[in-house]
Amino acid sequence: MTLSAVQADFFLHHLEIQSHNPEKLARFYSRVMDMKILRVSGEKLICEGPNRIIIITLGDDKNLSYAGMACRNELNLSRFRDFVMEKELILLDFDSNYYKPGSFSVKDPDDNVICFGVLEENNISITKGKYGPLQHLTFASENVEAFQNFYEKKLGFEVTDRVVKKNGELATCFTTSNHQHHTIACFKSALKGMDHHSYEVGDWHYIKNWCDHFASNNIKLMWGPGRHGPGNNLFVFIEDLDGNWIEISAELETVHGRPVKNWPQEEKTLNLWGNAIMRS
Ligand SMILES: [Fe+2]
Repeated sequence: MTLSAVQADFFLHHLEIQSHNPEKLARFYSRVMDMKILRVSGEKLICEGPNRIIIITLGDDKNLSYAGMACRNELNLSRFRDFVMEKELILLDFDSNYYKPGSFSVKDPDDNVICFGVLEENNISITKGKYGPLQHLTFASENVEAFQNFYEKKLGFEVTDRVVKKNGELATCFTTSNHQHHTIACFKSALKGMDHHSYEVGDWHYIKNWCDHFASNNIKLMWGPGRHGPGNNLFVFIEDLDGNWIEISAELETVHGRPVKNWPQEEKTLNLWGNAIMRS
């Protein structure tokens, strides 16, 4: 029996992003996102907080090396591998200290690399620090239709919400690999690559604490507080030193098989409370 991504129950575990100055960016994540730095080399640093891991390597600013997804056991992973192989995708072996042997990666239509694996049991994450589990990643793309087709049809993510332009073109597509409203989403844009990554804190109170923490580090909010239409989550956004957008989110909708909803592309869809950052 094969399992789709949502049946296998994947969550976003870590990201590897690139920077022209990994050391400096790692210090930013350490200070502002309350993470400990593990230095692998001068060109590779790992930032870890409770349930959040960002690996930073030398490269082009704002470039994602890969997104690391994890599921709970090897049986689910192997049945998901069968699902993906049936769709005739090219699977590449993927080696990571975080995963047990057997992990693999795929490339989406924009060449974003997504890895799937089961976590090593001895990889105990840091438990002390501010609460903010890594939860979702969004892409920017010229072709959201191709994004939807790939993640829904080839990987078996479930589409939860879509934002549709007046001409019928897709402006945004939200997909999930578990019960959370979205784990990977995509905004139509002239840009390609990462749009933002998000930490889900569950409750407004934690957003307030993060904002106070940002203020004490002289970091201004670049957007929010607000509430998104799709996902109904509360949000604030900041920007890191390289211009990557970071979201702190709360109250993200839990989804159990409801019908897909199409939203109009307007400011209120992106922010029920106020101004929106329209991507296209
Ligand atoms: Fe988000």
